[in-house]
Amino acid sequence: MKAREIRNNVFAVGAVDWDRTLFDALVPLPHGTSYNAYLIKGSEKIALIDTVDPPKWEILKTNLEQLRIEHLDYVVANHAEQDHSGALPFVLEKYPEARVITNAKCKGFLLDLLPLEPERIQVVQDRETLSLGDKTLQFIFAPWVHWPETMLTYLPEDKIMFTCDFFGSHVATSDLFVRDRDLVCQEAKRYYAEIMMPFARSIRKHLETLREFEFDLIAPSHGPIYDDPVYIMQAYQDWVSDEVQNLVVLTYVSMHGSTEKIALHLVEELVGRGITVKPFNLLHADEGELAAAMVDAATVVFATSALLVGPHPKSVYAAYLVNALKPKVKHAAIVASYGWGNKVVDELTAILKNLKVEMLPPLLFKGDPREADFQAAERLADEIYRKHQTLGLV
Ligand code: FEO
Repeated sequence: MKAREIRNNVFAVGAVDWDRTLFDALVPLPHGTSYNAYLIKGSEKIALIDTVDPPKWEILKTNLEQLRIEHLDYVVANHAEQDHSGALPFVLEKYPEARVITNAKCKGFLLDLLPLEPERIQVVQDRETLSLGDKTLQFIFAPWVHWPETMLTYLPEDKIMFTCDFFGSHVATSDLFVRDRDLVCQEAKRYYAEIMMPFARSIRKHLETLREFEFDLIAPSHGPIYDDPVYIMQAYQDWVSDEVQNLVVLTYVSMHGSTEKIALHLVEELVGRGITVKPFNLLHADEGELAAAMVDAATVVFATSALLVGPHPKSVYAAYLVNALKPKVKHAAIVASYGWGNKVVDELTAILKNLKVEMLPPLLFKGDPREADFQAAERLADEIYRKHQTLGLV
């Protein structure tokens, strides 16, 4: 997209990536993404906030040329990850007078990741301000949005908070501001789950910090700008809270259909008890959807075939992912069909060491499930129901 003015002399100059389908070689992007960069023209100085993923440099360059930017004083690096910092070397080559503004930790990362000259990087402190003349930038350190060096940049004269990944959504859209609120909120939740959920405690603190500032635009580095920040801040507040919902996430993988029979019976039994269930067949589950479901789930179930004597590798992967994301889930259960020896419970439980969950009694059965195994699934549904009752969810 061409450069567009957000506020007087504040422009969106980044790039929409309509075609990107995968992030971090891991996370599917069903709606593409964007790498937002913002240009601020003060009466005395000009600053660029963040850059773009390197393959999109030509778009950023064209936008800066369209705005006739022949001189750039500062490039603020809110975050060192390359989807925002990767085009810094190109920017610095085009504008040899420009200095990078960032914090000490981010400077270290930038020097590790990119071919930059350290003397062109100016370090700022938490809450330090930088005058552009009639506009001011203030830097607010927000470590562990998902990396330890992240900061936010505040523009008080225009009441804009530039938040980089924080509040971002992987959404490629022609909308400058959020217009499809449901889609953006859904994708912001997915993004929170994928990268920020392990740092929920830090995010909670950053939400508190933001209350000290008056702003009516949140300009993230992915997805459209929020011109009504209240709802996304409230959504984040819910996601980082300790509250869980009456929801079971049930992942399953079945080699010959036995595990699937019990998994789907368990789904029916849970639903019959008034519990919402999100089943994920791990043969084709979308990791982002699984992560997003884990934001609210009170219980997670791993249903798996045994492969040799251990869990199926797809179950290992799901357990590893859930464990890495550190959701606030309260209970976990393992369901497994096996042929001979069975180390499924030991091996999956060992993976789940980050989770502060109560492990419910496992449901193990040999080969194809019999009547007694279906009854055991019903007892597991009863147990989950009682646990949800104790949490006040049903
Ligand atoms: Fe969008 Fe952490 O980079």
